[in-house]
Amino acid sequence: MPDTASPAAPPAATTPTTPDFSAPVAPGLVWSDALSLSMPVMDQTHVEFVDLLAEVQAAPDGRLVSTWQALIDHTDAHFAQEDRWMLATGFAPGSCHMTQHSVVLKVLREGLQAGMQGQLALIRQMAHELTLWFPHHAQTMDAGLALHLKSVGHDPFTGELSHPDALPAQAINGCGGACGDTGPGTQKEAA
Ligand SMILES: [Fe+2]
Ligand SMILES: [Fe+2]
Repeated sequence: MPDTASPAAPPAATTPTTPDFSAPVAPGLVWSDALSLSMPVMDQTHVEFVDLLAEVQAAPDGRLVSTWQALIDHTDAHFAQEDRWMLATGFAPGSCHMTQHSVVLKVLREGLQAGMQGQLALIRQMAHELTLWFPHHAQTMDAGLALHLKSVGHDPFTGELSHPDALPAQAINGCGGACGDTGPGTQKEAA
């Protein structure tokens, strides 16, 4: 390491960048066009998610668990909607995007249980981590799904496909390249 810092440099452990999970904070994530996937139904759901997450981060202790519960309820429906779209357009059950939804929801529910037992800082920490996780998820897995849905002409209201000929010949286990296709059945062989 080309470290020529002076011996007087402070130790890393004292850097003041550790988030404070003991109190409400300003929203760590706000909606912007950068998060838009040009798919109105998906975007609307994502706007709602961002707003609910901001409510969690701003909630005083007395409202933290209830706002977290509201975020979980919304996220359950949000993920279920995307899972339905995937299953209707050629993704295999348990493909990597669905698996990530399932894992994230499980963790959020564990946070709820801990929060109900008074561990409010854990909810605040998870909310902070969601502000980092969501943009990445939206811009990779959800973006890949949106492109796929457009390619098959999926109508989110009726479920009809205007280009059924574009459906994949084989079930998709990965995320169409959005996640490195590391889902079951598509894992790369060890080099
Ligand atoms: Fe999403
Ligand atoms: Fe998703």
